[in-house]
Amino acid sequence: MKYLFPCKKIHKYLMNKIFSKLKSLLFMSAYKTLVGFEKLVNKGVVLDFLADDFMEDPYKTYNSMRMHKPILFSQTTRLHWVTKMEFAQEMLRDKRFSVDDRKYPIAEKRRKEFKKAGREIMLEQFENPSMLKLDPPDHSRIRKLVQYGFTNRYITSLEPEIKQVVDDCLDKIHNQESFDLIEDLAKPLPAIVIAKMMGLPDRDLNQFQAWSEDLLLGVGGIGTSKEDVKKSGDAYEALIHYFEEIILKRKDSPGDDFIGKLIQAEEEGDKLNVKEMYGTCLLLLIAGHETTTRLIGNGIYTLFNHPDQMAHLKDNQELIPNAIEEMLRYEPPVHATVRFAENDMTYNTKSYKRGTAFAVSIAGANRDPDANANPDVFNILRDDIKHISFGYGPHMCIGASLARIESRIAFETLFERFSHLELLDQKPSWGKNLIFRGFDHLNLKAS
Ligand code: HEM
Repeated sequence: MKYLFPCKKIHKYLMNKIFSKLKSLLFMSAYKTLVGFEKLVNKGVVLDFLADDFMEDPYKTYNSMRMHKPILFSQTTRLHWVTKMEFAQEMLRDKRFSVDDRKYPIAEKRRKEFKKAGREIMLEQFENPSMLKLDPPDHSRIRKLVQYGFTNRYITSLEPEIKQVVDDCLDKIHNQESFDLIEDLAKPLPAIVIAKMMGLPDRDLNQFQAWSEDLLLGVGGIGTSKEDVKKSGDAYEALIHYFEEIILKRKDSPGDDFIGKLIQAEEEGDKLNVKEMYGTCLLLLIAGHETTTRLIGNGIYTLFNHPDQMAHLKDNQELIPNAIEEMLRYEPPVHATVRFAENDMTYNTKSYKRGTAFAVSIAGANRDPDANANPDVFNILRDDIKHISFGYGPHMCIGASLARIESRIAFETLFERFSHLELLDQKPSWGKNLIFRGFDHLNLKAS
């Protein structure tokens, strides 16, 4: 074969570059056509997630979608978006809506993708998912096991340890004029706590944090590159191998921490299989820290944008728990979750085929004026805050009280240690993701 360029390697490299450029041009032109079409069909309303200002204020789009139709099919994502609180709650609670994508036609596509990419482990885990992707009775079987590790009594007993972790993080930056709230506190805090609960060695912290960041590159990302998808798959498989090794090492003396309890449950037989055990560990590790990091970052950023409320909160720290609920409502770390129609059905007068995918917009529902008055106003004094930021119904977040305690202690300690905090970058960029909302860095000046 003749090469356009002087050697095979350069030829391959440049051809790949040209193809990927062409592909992205084609993608952009198809995307723009879809946006145009959607605008036409929906009277100007469109989920244009590539628009310059979308990440800055996605709520404007969700509000317009809700006003146009509370359940709106978006061409750009090929999903039905549910932005009304009443419907969102119903979908999260109602058995007619399922989380188990193995049951629907979309599963075949996913299986093929895993096979094509040589992702055997991902395929195996896809067939044995974590509770987040299981319907009853399997969901209830695994959730019951995990709940033992998250009783209110146990989580409350962790308070002194959590305070110690926050103090250690802030000690490290004590003499610095500025610090990165995300790297120096919001990221390590929940990661250290969940690693302790699970009995994972401290020395692995940096490694599993890096893996979990890579893994999320493949979940809900906007404009995710081929390299990111590969990185995400590699990280997924590395994490499964990591848990496989840890669990194998600990078989003879499982111990009393979370992983120890799961090993005992697996050995007792019918409670969970070994693949489900890996999936559970992975879910807890990722869910246990990626979200709380974002809650702390989004929360402090929102306070900086509302200086009067920041000042009021500093002087009235008993308001912190209510302020955290308002932060969760106003800038939720998880923006959406997916449900499928279990069977052909009629819902809110429209017919849907079995397997139809709905994006339940947590961010959109939290801003529904029928749920909260003046929903676009951030108000730490708001009464009776309604949000679904921890989900709703049978899959409601197991770690909600842990996240609440971690973030409360983080805010209390920040206020206790620093009389003055200032945001150095006035317009930090939001991560480009439709599911997870947050910052990679937030540089603060402290005194
Ligand atoms: C601010 C922090 C957090 C947020 C915003 C959050 C959000 C959520 C949401 C929205 C769901 C429901 C997903 C769905 O219905 O599809 C969920 C489920 C879950 N979360 Fe969290 N989460 C947080 C912290 C945590 C922590 C700290 C842990 C564990 C240590 C955790 C573990 C889980 C688990 C295991 C589930 C699955 C429950 C089930 O399927 O039954 N989360 N979370």
